Amino acid sequence: MYKIIPVPPFDIILFGATGDLARREILPALFRGFSVRQVPEDFRLAGVARAEMSDDEFRALCRDSIRSAQEPQAGEQEVLEKFLRKLSYFPLDATGGAGWDRLAAWPRPDKILTFYLSVGPSVFEQIIDNLKHNNMVRPDCRIVVEKPFGQDLPSSQALNGILAGSFNESQIFRIDHYLGKETVQNLMALRFANVLFEPLWNWQHVEHVQITVSESIGVKGRQGYYDAAGGMRDMVQNHLMQLLCLVAMEPPARFEADAVRDEKLKVIKALRDMSSRDIVRGQYGAAAGMASYLEDSETTYSETESFIALKCRIGNMRWGQTPFYLRTGKRLKARMSEVAVVFKRLPHSIFGLRDQRRNNILAVRLQPDEGITLQVTIKEPGPGGMRLIEVPLDMSFAESLGPEIGTMTNAYERLIMDVIRGNQTLFMRNDEIEAAWRWTDQVIACWSEEGSRPEIYAAGSEGPSAAAALMDYGRQWRVIE
Ligand code: BG6
Repeated sequence: MYKIIPVPPFDIILFGATGDLARREILPALFRGFSVRQVPEDFRLAGVARAEMSDDEFRALCRDSIRSAQEPQAGEQEVLEKFLRKLSYFPLDATGGAGWDRLAAWPRPDKILTFYLSVGPSVFEQIIDNLKHNNMVRPDCRIVVEKPFGQDLPSSQALNGILAGSFNESQIFRIDHYLGKETVQNLMALRFANVLFEPLWNWQHVEHVQITVSESIGVKGRQGYYDAAGGMRDMVQNHLMQLLCLVAMEPPARFEADAVRDEKLKVIKALRDMSSRDIVRGQYGAAAGMASYLEDSETTYSETESFIALKCRIGNMRWGQTPFYLRTGKRLKARMSEVAVVFKRLPHSIFGLRDQRRNNILAVRLQPDEGITLQVTIKEPGPGGMRLIEVPLDMSFAESLGPEIGTMTNAYERLIMDVIRGNQTLFMRNDEIEAAWRWTDQVIACWSEEGSRPEIYAAGSEGPSAAAALMDYGRQWRVIE
């Protein structure tokens, strides 16, 4: 059983409380925390949204959302009802100046106060202004913001400016939910808590690194947002960038927020400028009974990429000669995310003329079935000479640590608890996010200047054929399965 350390009592004001993210992730995460007593009895939540609703109607909405996210287990019904009694609702147009009095009087002065903006960035400024005018911003409060954090460098700088106008950087929590995933944090444990890997973790031993975040879902339902963003802004600028940083960064002196974020920032700053020959973009076409991107987006023309693959280089002493391949897409063959570190081959094989040298591959699977696999070469069992085969040393977390591992905590639960504790290690700092946008803007400029269109790939496939060509020198993408 894992150890639960309760967080201190807190008040949280959730803007966008009836929205999709609040219902799908935030409220169920708070309930899970409450049911394992990590969230203390003395917590309260104020839901804010435009719709007119009573406290009881809001609680009924939350009950449904929590039940559909995770069926309460035996005996949890009572806990759920207790949790719901901690929730209140404030119908309010948070972008307007009227009607704030009741909300402004709600927070308890002696409890931790968190504002959670589960709303689009276009309304950040008005909400923050209103918080300020109603004297709700305190030196000890925290503010949580969701992605998309801007659309490019200037808009992210503007958002950072708005936040900095009312909050210190130590009060601002920019969420990238990938950093809350168990295996993503395990990348750091693997690298920095074992003697085995760090000596090999550099250009001399690593042939290349592949990071894949493959999704089987399409864009239907979010087409408005997605068509303006595309895979580069939606996934690479944030989630894949964070994975890249955790693989490539130098060991921080301590596992502390600024020490970790300083090292991540150095990686982003060391990313070389890209050219269009190192970028492949794709868009899914109808196949196997699945609609095309254009159909899902209810449009007849779009240049937005639903798939992107990049060959990146990090210009520093550790990685100078090791390419990092990133790939992400929608409507691919399967949902599969992994980081694969492909080691160089031995310089010589003692086992015969035929080239029996193979690459060791360390694959860290994020989802589904979290775990770590190390591909090693061994002797094929049985008599009749020395033949070599590759086998995986497979460590599925579920097998090693128990099946409940996957349900222990989810990314949002962990991240919200970190907000209450005031621990920013797993959140992005202003300079980090701006550096990531600076690089992203340069990548996007490569194709927007050329006006190139994404290659169509079949829905349910492994992406456009050009992605394979990006893998030069005999390298191959890991199979999506
Ligand atoms: C979100 C993106 O940030 O991450 C979505 O906006 C994507 O497009 C999602 O589907 C993927 O998250 P996960 O946790 O399902 O891998």
